[in-house]
Amino acid sequence: MAAKSSQTMTIPTDAELVQAQADLWRHSLSYLTPMALSCAIQLGIPTAIHRFGGAASLPDLVTTLSLPPSKAPFLSRLLRLLSTTGVLASNEAGIYSLVPLSYLLVDGVRIDGDASQTALVLAVTSWHYMEAAMGLADWFKKDIAQPVPSPFEEVHGAALFEESMAVLDPECDKLFNEALAAHDHMGIGTVLRECHALFSGLQSLTDCCGGDGTTARSIVKAYPHIKCNVLDLPKVVDKNPSDGLVNYVTGDMFHSIPPAQAVMLKLVLHFWSDEDCINILAQCKKAIPCREAGGKVIIIDIVVDSSSGQMFETQLLMDVAMMVYTRGRQRDENEWSSIFAKAGFSDYKIVKKLGARGVIEVYP
Ligand SMILES: C[S@@+](CC[C@H](N)C(=O)[O-])C[C@H]1O[C@@H](n2cnc3c(N)ncnc32)[C@H](O)[C@@H]1O
Repeated sequence: MAAKSSQTMTIPTDAELVQAQADLWRHSLSYLTPMALSCAIQLGIPTAIHRFGGAASLPDLVTTLSLPPSKAPFLSRLLRLLSTTGVLASNEAGIYSLVPLSYLLVDGVRIDGDASQTALVLAVTSWHYMEAAMGLADWFKKDIAQPVPSPFEEVHGAALFEESMAVLDPECDKLFNEALAAHDHMGIGTVLRECHALFSGLQSLTDCCGGDGTTARSIVKAYPHIKCNVLDLPKVVDKNPSDGLVNYVTGDMFHSIPPAQAVMLKLVLHFWSDEDCINILAQCKKAIPCREAGGKVIIIDIVVDSSSGQMFETQLLMDVAMMVYTRGRQRDENEWSSIFAKAGFSDYKIVKKLGARGVIEVYP
């Protein structure tokens, strides 16, 4: 029997109602935050501030960005929002400066390689992505046979990672691939500095879905004794120049993974369903020796953690992003643990949490 709403909901007070209205404005309009961020990138604001030595005034920016002086008051309002939402810092003298987040949006900035994350912001604020999110309610109402396509696939008839994207919109496909590379390449330097024991005892490693080999090359440069395979699909491996540092292998991880003491899955499993993850991990298990011989799978991926404060909201946004754009998901520790057990692994350890991500060792 349906509960009577009058029994469970007390009428909000005046103070609660005006607060609720303000909260609703914030929720409804907060899509303008990424739009303002995208605008800042398109105008080149972070790069301009960087060229001024990391801090610039409004007149500096209007001049250097070649904006009409009449737009100065409007730019001031954009900068105020960007400062309030943590994209920039500002002081009472009207000086805007970079913070670590906006440092990641400076053209050509290098930390352990090319770290600029502008492509990611521009991709997720582009038409195709926004339209996919706008199709979410229609997608929920449709009873679609398994495997359920993402709202992105439903709306556009094309899937990220697949040839259909290049057919749909080559520019969007290019931007997505740049965004993915920026997203994926960032962070391995931190893992290498923070988690020495992860790689130091290894003789060999297969970086499963290792893409262009950037991650594997960083590992081999830090640990030259490790023999490293990079497994990826032919269309990716065929583009990789042989560099003598790592061994590129063409293949499908659902069929076979090149044997090594450890297999690494960095930012891979969150793109796949639980069933697919279990199949992928089962292939990993076949590729590694027993635990006593150092066999392990290294997973670098988001570990959703409700006790992680603001990071939790980021992780949930990343989860809904996976739902809207792909068939994957983000997982909490219990969900990870469950798929490890179903794939036949005996134990695991979360070695480190770095930002929204976790580094996990899984043992046969
Ligand atoms: C998100 S990227 C992985 C990122 C990479 N591990 C890193 O951290 O830089 C996904 C990669 O998986 C590869 N891939 C997708 N399906 C695959 C399969 N069945 N077998 C092997 N590689 C696959 C794609 O070609 C792509 O390069």
